[in-house]
Amino acid sequence: MTPVLSDAYGRIATDLRVSLTDRCNLRCTYCMPPEGLDWLPGPELLTDEEVVRLVRVGVTLLGIREVRFTGGEPLLRRGLPGIVAAAAALEPRPRTALTTNGIGLARLAPALAEAGLDRVNVSLDTLDADVFERLTRRRRLDDVLAGLAGAARAGLTPVKVNAVLMRGVNDHEAADLLAYCLEHGYQLRFIEQMPLDAQHGWQRESMVTADEILDRLSAAHTLTPAGGAARGSAPAELFLVDGGPATVGVIGSVTRPFCGACDRVRLTADGQVRNCLFAREESDLRGPLRAGATDAELAERWRAAVATKRPGHGIDDPGFLQPARPMSAIGG
Ligand code: GTP
Ligand code: 5AD
Ligand code: SF4
Repeated sequence: MTPVLSDAYGRIATDLRVSLTDRCNLRCTYCMPPEGLDWLPGPELLTDEEVVRLVRVGVTLLGIREVRFTGGEPLLRRGLPGIVAAAAALEPRPRTALTTNGIGLARLAPALAEAGLDRVNVSLDTLDADVFERLTRRRRLDDVLAGLAGAARAGLTPVKVNAVLMRGVNDHEAADLLAYCLEHGYQLRFIEQMPLDAQHGWQRESMVTADEILDRLSAAHTLTPAGGAARGSAPAELFLVDGGPATVGVIGSVTRPFCGACDRVRLTADGQVRNCLFAREESDLRGPLRAGATDAELAERWRAAVATKRPGHGIDDPGFLQPARPMSAIGG
C-alpha cells in the first residue's frame, strides 16, 4: 500500500483537520442561526479513543504531517488536552494546531501547550463589544481577547487571527483589527465569506472580496507580497506590512481559490472523511471502525476516499449547490 493520501490530480493530503464537535458557544451570523442547530447525537460522535485511533492511522500509515483540531468549538470538548497529547506522542510527531473562537482559551492554553499543542488560530472579527454581539449574538469579546493573550503567553505561537468581514457590520474595522494584531504580535488573516452558513444566506454580491480588503488596507499601509511561492498549499496569501517583518494575510477562498494546491483532508466529529469543505460525498470510517476493522483496513478506506477528491470547490460552476452540512458540522 502506498503510504500517502493522493488523488487523481496529483495532490497529496498531509494536513488533517479533525472536527471534535459540531457545537459552539457563539452563534456567528455567517455560520448558524440564533437558536443554534440540531447537534449531532452523542452516540454518533467519535469517542476520544476513536479520534485518537483514526489520527494514529492517518499519521503512521498515511503520511499525515499536521493535525488541526476544529469544531464547532473544539474547546468545548472535555477530552481535548488528552487527544492533543496522544496526537503529539505519535511517531513521526505531527505538527499540532487548533482553530478556536478563543472562549475559554485563557484558562486552557497552558494545559494545551503542556499536552503538545504547537499553535492556535483564533477567530476575531471585531474589537467593538457591540459589533461582536451583533455578529456572534453573544457578549464575549473580552473572553476572546483574553484567550488570545493567554495563547501567546503559553507559547502557542505564531498566534493567528481569522477575521471574516461582513459588509455594513464590521467591514469598517479592517485597519483597526490590523493595528491591534500588529501591536500584540498576532498574524491577522482576513477571510472571504464562503457559502457555508446553515441559513443559506450567503450572497456573492455582498461578500467583501480579497481585492477590496487589500485596497482598504493599502489606504493606511504599504503592502508587498511576502514571497509569491511561499503560499504553497496555505490558504492565506501573505503581505509584508510597511516593509515587514509583520505580515497580514488574505484568504480568498472564493475569488482566489487555492484548490489546485490543496493538501487537506477532513474528519468530521461523527467519523466521516471529507475531502473538501464543499464536498458532496463523505466516506464513513466510524462504521467500519466500530465493526472491528483493522488499522490497515481503515487506512485503505481512507485512501480510497481521498482518491475520489474533486479538482475544486466549484463555487463558480453553474450548478453549484451549497453543501448540506454547514461549516460548524464540517470543521472550519
Ligand atoms: P494555517 O494557515 O496553517 O494556520 O491554517 P488555516 O488557515 O488553513 O486554518 P484555519 O482553520 O484558521 O482556517 C482559516 C480559513 O481558511 C477558514 O475560513 C477556513 O475555512 C479556510 N479554509 C481552511 N481550509 C480550507 C479548505 O480546504 N478550503 C477552503 N476553501 N478554505 C479553507
Ligand atoms: N465563511 C468564511 N469563514 C468562515 N468561518 C466560519 N464560517 C465561515 C464562512 N461562512 C471561519 C471562522 C473561523 C474559521 C475556521 O472559519 O470565523 O475563523
Ligand atoms: Fe462557532 Fe465558529 Fe460557527 Fe462562529 S464560525 S458560530 S465560532 S463554529
